Amino acid sequence: MLASVTVRAPAKVNLALGVGPLRPDGYHGLATVFHAVGLYDDLVATPLPAGSGLQLVLEGEGAGRVPLDDTNLAARALAALVPYGASPDVSLTIRKGIPVAGGMAGGSADAAGTLVAIDALFGLGLSRDDLLDIAATLGSDVPFVLHGGTVVGSDTGTRLTPALVRGTYHWVFVLAEEGLSTPLVYREFDRLHAGTGPVPEPTVPPELMAALRAGDAAALGKSLHNDLQAAALSLRPTLAQVLSIGDEYGALGGVVSGSGPTCAFLARDDEHAVDLAVAFTASGVCRTVKRAIGPVPGARVVDQRAEV
Ligand code: C5P
Repeated sequence: MLASVTVRAPAKVNLALGVGPLRPDGYHGLATVFHAVGLYDDLVATPLPAGSGLQLVLEGEGAGRVPLDDTNLAARALAALVPYGASPDVSLTIRKGIPVAGGMAGGSADAAGTLVAIDALFGLGLSRDDLLDIAATLGSDVPFVLHGGTVVGSDTGTRLTPALVRGTYHWVFVLAEEGLSTPLVYREFDRLHAGTGPVPEPTVPPELMAALRAGDAAALGKSLHNDLQAAALSLRPTLAQVLSIGDEYGALGGVVSGSGPTCAFLARDDEHAVDLAVAFTASGVCRTVKRAIGPVPGARVVDQRAEV
């Protein structure tokens, strides 16, 4: 057993998010392109004496809004590994760099990060495929955060197929004052589609895949798409203003990230990303602006200390 393990888990943005009809199990079938970006939650796991249980500490912006009980995704991830030999007596400190309830998989990053950290801490020796299967039981985005990179997701987002991608992309993320609840946004999607005929099965836009293959940022910007955007805008109308500022300052494209309310803008290069970030900050429409590149790797161990 190690003395401590530190894991870094990235945020995601959906470059395309196609949403199908509500299924009998309460989920929606998706056709999505996940893209991991360089905003991170860092997790430090250390073993505790028998009987201590989980001591969970969250630090950073918005940490106070994350539940610390057994509904916390990191707590659920630890519990899921106990049958595989993990001790339930662990201290887990999570430094949040991913916006809370921002549609960027912050909770999923904590679950994926915990799986990687606990596997390493107790030397469980679980394979990548085992971890992906366990991840899928914790949430729709958790397998992707383990995987990282740029990946096509189907089913509820848990079935992953790597995509052929060239280039590095420069993103600006505009964070909102208050989060949006993912289930509420999906419910609003259903409400907006009630009475408009059956929701078609979702597909990934071929022009977006072609843009990624070619490493063509301008074409990628034009093909960003999110079927949940109308629902997020309906619940948070001020997001329309954020999206139009991106247009005005020449973003290659702008889209609501996942279920929102974070909006993602693609810049031409790093310098343009700085210009966009300044424009958003000056506009007063948002609380915080962050820049990040993508794609980046999935949740991984960045430091481990041996028992002395
Ligand atoms: O899987 P996760 O816990 O992230 O999903 C949160 C909620 O979002 C689900 O309970 C469901 O209401 C909604 N959801 C959905 N279809 C998906 C993913 C999530 O309806 N593919």
